[in-house]
Order: sequence, then structure tokens, then C-alpha cells
Amino acid sequence: MRYAVLGPGKRLRPFLVFEAGGLLGVGPERLDRAACALECIHAYSLVHDDLPCMDDDDLRRGRPTVHRAFDEATAVLAGDALQALAFEILAGPETHPDGRVRADLVVALARASGARGMCGGQMIDLSGVGEDLGAVARMQRLKTGALISAAFELPLALAHPGERERHALLAFAHDLGLAYQIVDDLLDLEGEAAVVGKATGKDAARGKVNFVTLLGADDARARLELVASQARAQLDPLGNRAGGLLACLDFVLDRRS
Ligand code: IPE
Ligand code: IPE
Ligand code: MG
Ligand code: MG
Ligand code: MG
Repeated sequence: MRYAVLGPGKRLRPFLVFEAGGLLGVGPERLDRAACALECIHAYSLVHDDLPCMDDDDLRRGRPTVHRAFDEATAVLAGDALQALAFEILAGPETHPDGRVRADLVVALARASGARGMCGGQMIDLSGVGEDLGAVARMQRLKTGALISAAFELPLALAHPGERERHALLAFAHDLGLAYQIVDDLLDLEGEAAVVGKATGKDAARGKVNFVTLLGADDARARLELVASQARAQLDPLGNRAGGLLACLDFVLDRRS
């Protein structure tokens, strides 16, 4: 569990929890546990994603994947236990004094992780979506977008802002999630394993359907630009409070790993 969650990942989702929460006036000490819980779910999703029965990957974050460093049973159980730990963290009284708020956090993370979120998207990814751009977008919104959106839903549940802010942040999260996965798919095609920290060129080899394998790199990049400018526009209602999130979007667009 430690190997999976404390390894050299980017911690993007916890970072977003702190950015979105800070923008809404929630203190970092109140966001800590939500950020940790979300990263536990993300780490578990990667451990299982790499298993031989899923993507069968040997390299993650520049190191052997969990089932390679240990064994498959350990990887399955470490993932399961990280998932349980996420909900134990959220449900703990230190997370928030009001039990209703804690229940809202638990429900938000459970939805983002489950059949109508990450797991559902992973299932669609493995089943194959056919050559249908709408279906690819839906798959990506679930498998990657749901946990990125959770990085906004958790602070929203802690802050209860007005509808305008809520809508702006969730619309931004939606586009950021899509952009994130398009970049991931471009890196699989164009990146170098030594820099990316995971094997590359595997999506096409495995017959995965995503915007890059379907449209080619140039069209996927054009779509990425479109999604990115839409994401920027979503933050307009937040004015100069959105600077950190805009920088984060640029980080996502420019990332090499
Ligand atoms: C990888 O996520 C899996 C996807 C959802 C594309 P990250 O790129 O956030 O992985 P780490 O945590 O930084 O290793
Ligand atoms: C995985 O997408 C998304 C998850 C929910 C874990 P990928 O299978 O493309 O992620 P990588 O490329 O292995 O990190
Ligand atoms: Mg996968
Ligand atoms: Mg994978
Ligand atoms: Mg990938």
C-alpha cells in the first residue's frame, strides 16, 4: 500500500482539492483528509489497472508495478485495502464535525469511484467502445474524469458555495479530465518510457480505442486545444481567483510524464 500511494506520482488530484478548496475559502487543514482519500482511490485504481488481467503493465512511475515488485495477490489486496482506507479516512470524525458533511463526502467519492465512475469507465475501456467518438468521450469521462471531478466535488461538499461557482468549477473539472486523458494517450504514442515512467506504445498494440488511436495525433491535439480553451472559459466567472487552476491546466497540457 505504501509503495503504491507514496511513490513518485504527481499528486495532481490532491493538488486540485487544495486549489479548488482554497479558492472557495476552505482551509488546508480541512482539505487534507479529503485530498488523501482521493489519492488512495487513485493509487488503487492504478494498481488494479496495471494487473495482468487489465493492462498488464510492468512499469509505473519509473518503477516496477505493484504486482511486479510484490505479486498479483498482494496487488489485488493492496488496491482493495487502499480503497477501504479512503472511506475510513473520509468517515473519520477528524474529517468534519458534522456527520452529514462526512456522509456527503463519502457519497461523492463512492459515486466517482464506482460503476458510474472510474470502475465503469475501466470496464468500458476493457470491453472496447467501437469507433464512436461519443462513446470514447463517455469512457474517458468515467475512467479518468470522474476522479478528477471528485477533486472538485469534495471541496464543494465542504464549502457549499453558490450555484455559479459550483457550476464553473464542475464544468472546468469536466474539461480538465478530458484534456488529462487525451494528453495521457498522446504520451503513450509519442512519449519515451524513460521520461513518462511507464511503457509507451501499448494502447495501439493492445487495440485500445481512444481519441489518439481513433483520430491520430494531429486531430487529437486539435481536439485537446479546443477542450483546453473551453476549460479556460469555464473559469471566467471566478475572475482572478482562478489563477492557480489555470496554471494547473497549463501544467496538464505541457506535462511530459
Ligand atoms: C495516470 O494518472 C492514469 C490516468 C488517469 C491517465 P496520473 O498521470 O495522474 O498518475 P500519477 O499518479 O501521476 O502517477
Ligand atoms: C487508466 O487509464 C485510468 C485509470 C482509471 C487508472 P490508462 O490505462 O490509460 O492509464 P495508464 O496509461 O496505465 O496510466
Ligand atoms: Mg487502463
Ligand atoms: Mg493502463
Ligand atoms: Mg494511458
